Formats: sequence, structure tokens, C-alpha cells
Amino acid sequence: MTATQFTSTELVTGIGELTTHDDSGERMHNAALIIGGGRILWIGAAAKAPAADRRTDVDGRAVLPGWVDTHTHLVFGGDRSAEFEARMAGQPYAAAGINTTVDATRAATEEQLVATAGHLRREAEAQGTTFLETKTGYGLDVASEARSARAAARVADVVTFLGAHIVPAGLDRRDYLDLVTGPMLTAVRPYVQFIDAFCEQGAFDVEQTREVLLAGRSSGLGLRVHGNQLGFSGGVQLAAELGAASVDHCNYLEPVDIDALAAGTTVATLLPACDLSTRQPFAPARRLLDAGVTIALATNCNPGTSYTTSMPFCVATAVLQMGLTVSEAVWAATRGAARSLDRDQGADAVGSLQVGGRADLQVLNAPSISHLAYRPGVPLTGAVWRHGLRLGS
Ligand code: NIG
Repeated sequence: MTATQFTSTELVTGIGELTTHDDSGERMHNAALIIGGGRILWIGAAAKAPAADRRTDVDGRAVLPGWVDTHTHLVFGGDRSAEFEARMAGQPYAAAGINTTVDATRAATEEQLVATAGHLRREAEAQGTTFLETKTGYGLDVASEARSARAAARVADVVTFLGAHIVPAGLDRRDYLDLVTGPMLTAVRPYVQFIDAFCEQGAFDVEQTREVLLAGRSSGLGLRVHGNQLGFSGGVQLAAELGAASVDHCNYLEPVDIDALAAGTTVATLLPACDLSTRQPFAPARRLLDAGVTIALATNCNPGTSYTTSMPFCVATAVLQMGLTVSEAVWAATRGAARSLDRDQGADAVGSLQVGGRADLQVLNAPSISHLAYRPGVPLTGAVWRHGLRLGS
């Protein structure tokens, strides 16, 4: 592919530090790249850059792939700030709080759900997120889950069916599982690519989670699991056994859980903002990495346990509190995250900058990615391109 094959090309030059996440793992200095047709056409030394139709000089700033946020619950109604405040005053988090959001979500219109989710997506984009997954899971009846899935597909790049979030108040567990694996799955199927289940005390046990995941697999969906968030639920080992794309949370891990992940391909998706907001111990990121497990970082944006869209906050927390290096945290929030969605290889790969690949990138108002943790809480996102288009311009 050459720059001249496209009617409009853009040279981004003056890049002080370029993180590509190509196989070398190196950061380049004094670099440039050319964008055209939504893709990266060229990457190299700024001094050798070919001409393009337009030129953007980023004046020594750092450029890196856009964030890939693989765990969000953006389709919801209502607010749970009172529950949050009570938690900060000492109340423990309990899965039953999900019912509050279920009531508010059922009461909202589809347009209201899309408006809220769309607002949160734009908030994420302004902080460098260029690819985003979201889930159903606050409808929990056939019509409301179908509506949530439709709304999610209008806002997110990837949608996950989470009918197995909890058994809604007043329903028999066996009847509800039949609904989730039958008519509800059929109703959401046109809009979703993954199925997920909350494997936890107060939600679903290992065998119920297995039943839900296998029903999803039979209908062609990829697998994700909420596992070991509040205790040793068995969700992590089940995810590894079934070869799930991702197991998310992973706060409570025995050596046997880590061994199971290290022996397989399941990505451990860690959610530092949720760990803080629920006052749970941080997921053991360092132990997982040292054992050879692939990890991802995500926001888990939702009104109950983690009401933030900020991937930079998650990256900073992973470095400052969870023992990751800056490079490891940035990789986990981009390429590792892409792997957890089976999107880190091929023409539609995200989370890396490679010639021929999608032009999803961000400029930091800083000379290096180290500033993401060195200057925590400072809004450093300077510019964002998604599929080659500069956002907000
Ligand atoms: O990932 N853990 C389950 N689901 C969400 C929280 C849901 C809620 O409390 O609203 C999570 O943390």
C-alpha cells in the first residue's frame, strides 16, 4: 500500500516517542507515520517521511495506539451514588445492588439508553479510547435484554450478552436459566458477539455459569466470564477450562487459578477502578504476568461498581498500585485488551499501530507514555484518531 493510492493522506510527524506494539516491543523516537483510508500507510523515522496531503506536527509528543476498553456496562438507567456513598462509609458491595439498576433500565426508553451510553462513549473517546466493548445485563427479561442489546450495538464496537448477571428478584433460578439459554439468547443473538456470566456467590455458581456459556457457544458466541471478583468462585478455572477469550476481575486467585490461566489462552482482564470503588484487594497483576498470563486492563464502567470511563486512570493505577511497569500497563490496555476480544491479529486488529492496520491512535500532551503514571490524574490526551478520522475536529 502506498500513500498515493488514497485521495487524502495525513502525515503525523514530530513524534517524540512512538509506541506501536509491533512484535519488537520497542518505542521509536523522532518518528512519523502516514494515515490514509482509515489505515496506517507508513511508519518510520521523521527525517525519511514521504510527503502527504496534510501534515500534523505533534512537536515532540508521545503517540500510542488508542485504548481498547473491553469491559463496560454502558446500557443502564438510574444512578447509584447513594449506594457508593454508603460503601465508602463501610457497607460492603453486594451483587443484589444490580436490581436497582435493573428497575431503572426497564423504565427507560431505548433512546434514553442510547443517549446515556453514547455520552459515556464520547467521554471515553475524549480520554483516548478508540475501541470499546459493552454488555447487556440490566434488562434481565427477554424484551429488556433485547432492547439493551440493540442499544449497545448502536454505541459499542463489540457487544456481550450478560443475561446471567443475577437472577432478577422474584424469579425461580431454574426458570430464569431456561429463559437466558433459550428465548433471551435468541432475542439478543443478532446484536451480540460474546456471552458472559457473573460466576459469584449471590449470582451464578460454576455449573450454572457453564450451562450459560455452553448455550452461547452453541449459538456461535465467544465466551467471557466475570470470575473471582468477591471470592474464590471457581469462575477463573471454568473460563480457562472452556478456553474463554477473557475472565474478568480475578481479585481472589489461588496458585491453581494462575496455573490454569498460564496453561491456556484465556486473558485475565483486570479492573483497577472497580477494585478501588468496591474496596476489594487489587487483582494480583504482577503474579499473573510473572506466571506468563496475558493480562488486559479495562474500566468496567457501570453505575454500581466502577463509574469511570477513564483508561488513563486505570493505567496509572495499575502502575502505581498493582506493580506493573508503564510499558506493561499500556500494553495491557491496548494490545492485551485487543487479544481478549480476539482482535489483536489480522486486517481488523486494534490495539497496535502497524502498516496496513487500523489507524486508531492518540497523542499525549507529554513526551513519553511514562507521564500517564508519572502525572496521575492529569488530562494528557491531546488528539485521537479513530479509523483514520480525527475525533472532535
Ligand atoms: O462487573 N460484577 C458484576 N457486574 C458489574 C457490577 C454490576 C453492578 O453492581 O451494577 C461488575 O462489577
